[in-house]
Amino acid sequence: MALRRILKFPDPVLRQPTVAVGDVSAHKDLAKLVADMTDTMYASNGAGLAAIQVGDTRRLFIVDASIAGGAENDPPRVFIDPEISYLSPETEQTEEGCLSFPGIYLDVKRSLKATIKATGLDGKRFELSAEGLFARALQHENDHLTGKLLVDFAGPLKRQMIKRKMEKLNRAELEGDDLDDAATAD
Ligand code: NI
Repeated sequence: MALRRILKFPDPVLRQPTVAVGDVSAHKDLAKLVADMTDTMYASNGAGLAAIQVGDTRRLFIVDASIAGGAENDPPRVFIDPEISYLSPETEQTEEGCLSFPGIYLDVKRSLKATIKATGLDGKRFELSAEGLFARALQHENDHLTGKLLVDFAGPLKRQMIKRKMEKLNRAELEGDDLDDAATAD
């Protein structure tokens, strides 16, 4: 089990352009990346995670199996080079979180249904249609691959509040790290 550090807003890498994977077999480290992302996502009780959130710019994300129509103990579903081909005009507004914004929840309006094409870890292209929470997760994770983040759905006041809260959290985390470093240096 290998955990990767989840980048937190406003880390600029979260806004960086992502790069298409293309031929899966040409990326020998992809299975390891997905395994690490899986461990990292579950260690933080997440339901989805994009590679860019652990600092890898390749276009892929994972979604927890129980949300993605699988059994609870199935591995997460992997979406490589995803393209959303349909979004329903019917929408739903629900509170949404993100592992790059710990403790922050925001009402986000999303399409109720979505169709997505993507490549699996086996290199095969597939298409599926999703509804409700699964459709929401697909839209949220796909946003990560275009640099769009939860904070972008907030109004100007709330946006400032989120920024301040995250900067405070990041400072606290940094100070915690310094303490750890000092402890291990001795
Ligand atoms: Ni997210």
